[in-house]
Amino acid sequence: MAESMQGLHRSHRCAELGASNVGQQVTVMGWVAKRRNLGSLIFVDLRDRSGILQIVFNEESGDAALFEKAGSLRSEYTVAITGRVERRSGAVNENLATGEIEIIADSLRILSESQTPPFPVEDGINTKDEIRLKYRYLDLRRPELQKILFMRSRLYNVTREFLGSEGFIEVETPMLCKSTPEGARDYLVPSRVHPGSFYALPQSPQLYKQLLMCSGFDRYFQIARCFRDEDLRADRQPEFTQIDMELSFVDVDDVIDVNERFLAKMFKDLIGVEVPLPIERMTWQEAMDRFGSDKPDRRFGLELVNVTDVVKGCGFGVFTGAIEKGGTVRGINVKGMGDMPRKKIDALTDTAKTYGAKGLAYAALQPDGTVKSSFAKFMTEEEMNALVAAMGGEAGDLLLFAADSNKVVWAVLGALRLEIAKTYNLFDPKEYKFTWITEFPLLEWSEEENRFVAMHHPFTMPMEEDLPFLESDPGRVRAKAYDITLNGVEIGGGSIRIHQADIQSRMFTALGFTQERAYDQFGFLLDAFKYGVPPHGGLAYGLDRLLMLMTGADSIRDTIAFPKVKDASCLMTQAPSTVDPAQLEILGLDIVAEAQEEESAE
Ligand code: AMO
Ligand code: AMP
Repeated sequence: MAESMQGLHRSHRCAELGASNVGQQVTVMGWVAKRRNLGSLIFVDLRDRSGILQIVFNEESGDAALFEKAGSLRSEYTVAITGRVERRSGAVNENLATGEIEIIADSLRILSESQTPPFPVEDGINTKDEIRLKYRYLDLRRPELQKILFMRSRLYNVTREFLGSEGFIEVETPMLCKSTPEGARDYLVPSRVHPGSFYALPQSPQLYKQLLMCSGFDRYFQIARCFRDEDLRADRQPEFTQIDMELSFVDVDDVIDVNERFLAKMFKDLIGVEVPLPIERMTWQEAMDRFGSDKPDRRFGLELVNVTDVVKGCGFGVFTGAIEKGGTVRGINVKGMGDMPRKKIDALTDTAKTYGAKGLAYAALQPDGTVKSSFAKFMTEEEMNALVAAMGGEAGDLLLFAADSNKVVWAVLGALRLEIAKTYNLFDPKEYKFTWITEFPLLEWSEEENRFVAMHHPFTMPMEEDLPFLESDPGRVRAKAYDITLNGVEIGGGSIRIHQADIQSRMFTALGFTQERAYDQFGFLLDAFKYGVPPHGGLAYGLDRLLMLMTGADSIRDTIAFPKVKDASCLMTQAPSTVDPAQLEILGLDIVAEAQEEESAE
């Protein structure tokens, strides 16, 4: 039977009590984490968001009804307990904040009972994710997840405090927006009033924040929810949160400066980590050449080496063939792993293939000076020696090579670096290594669309010195775009924007837009820019990803109260779901998918 709160007041949260409260009469409330009966004593671990407190019911106190009631408690019952704080009669529990004390209960109210929970509400469980997510409200009772959400809340506070003190104003921008092409797929919302028309949920507040600069707000920020209908991975969610900002009258260094101080404060205040400033910067080209990735994990070496020139004329057709097709040959030197078993090398080859490689050539340098290699037989000894020397190879090293287009070689070796470092613990998981990646290509070629697409977005400013090539050689134009990366994760990105009508129009042409189409999509922005627009730029952090790294969570799911799973569904609410036909009718919508299924079934 559920009892009421009438006449009761909580005096403390569980873990607010300690040795200094000994002798006091207190009232605490929370959930039963555990009950143990020891003869004439019943011990209850009471849990609330602050922690765990030990309660003792003593049969010898003479209140038989109370003792019997305590005996009926089960895990996750919600209770209120009044009693006296005493030093523990038994051993002090060093693992608990409240480990020196216990409450000798003299009254108990059962505020609500609980069914047996589907999994134990405690840290370190290995319950399947599907079950945890179905009962997310129980999962969220676990201290591990509570800690992350508390940190999330503190991150909001630090953000508001820091950006507020730097003169940023917080503005909310719409959730119901105009659908614009470019970027990820939109989530659409049908309009009832305008049948056949749709709003799009924002992929980011990009255009609005630029308009706020036109309006003269000078510095804007928002903790903004963003929606992207893209394939999910461990660090992606269909709806996620950005710390989004935009600044007027700035160039790249100004945006970087304020953000370095922001990052330093965030990491110091939230997890006590000092971020040495300035944060190192690396151009996109250098990051790709050295790490095969535009978000390099720099806690370890295993850098890529370009050996194209060294193997140019060699006898190994795989290498020379790739070079003839305009590709490159690059390798990594896995120091001291020359004795890696063949099975492991085969497993790495399989990984390489998932990234598009046709194979993985290896050379294991044996302690006796010989080479075990999948391609030595195609090379002269001099050719092999030159290759080993170029790789800095010494006896005992394992050299791995990929030959293909730059894109494939980077992807393959970039992924192998990570896999090898993870397998062989080549980095300190507690280290925080930040890097700015700058000078991204402005455009990238899309095979799918057979045109250039913007690597960041169509409003990103080209580097001034590259502007002359925008028409003649668009692929070589670099952008005033920057990403902030941490331990191999892109935690934020931004750019200086185009504020000149003529450059914007050239950019649209480079993207294959007619001026009409550009105007149709972005007319409001282009119009706004006709009335005096300040040079501006900004950046947005992926707040969930930041938290994942700060808390060491395995997935960004753990940083979000109610996340979605891989197929973008919510296992708790069962969203998305079908709706009442009447709702569809009001919206003027008809579902054709079922009809198609029927047809194909015939
Ligand atoms: P961008 O698209 O790079 O830039 O996004 C900024 C940051 O948001 C995070 N992020 C995500 N996090 C979780 N799930 C996702 N699906 C997801 N997609 C992106 C990343 C990323 O670095 N408007 C621009 C910013 C600007 O130019 O100012 C933008 O949205 O950490
Ligand atoms: P093969 O002559 O096809 O047996 O290949 C000899 C070695 O080269 C094998 O170890 C293959 O895995 C490797 N190999 C094949 N294609 C590539 C490639 N594109 N890049 C690197 N190594 C490759």
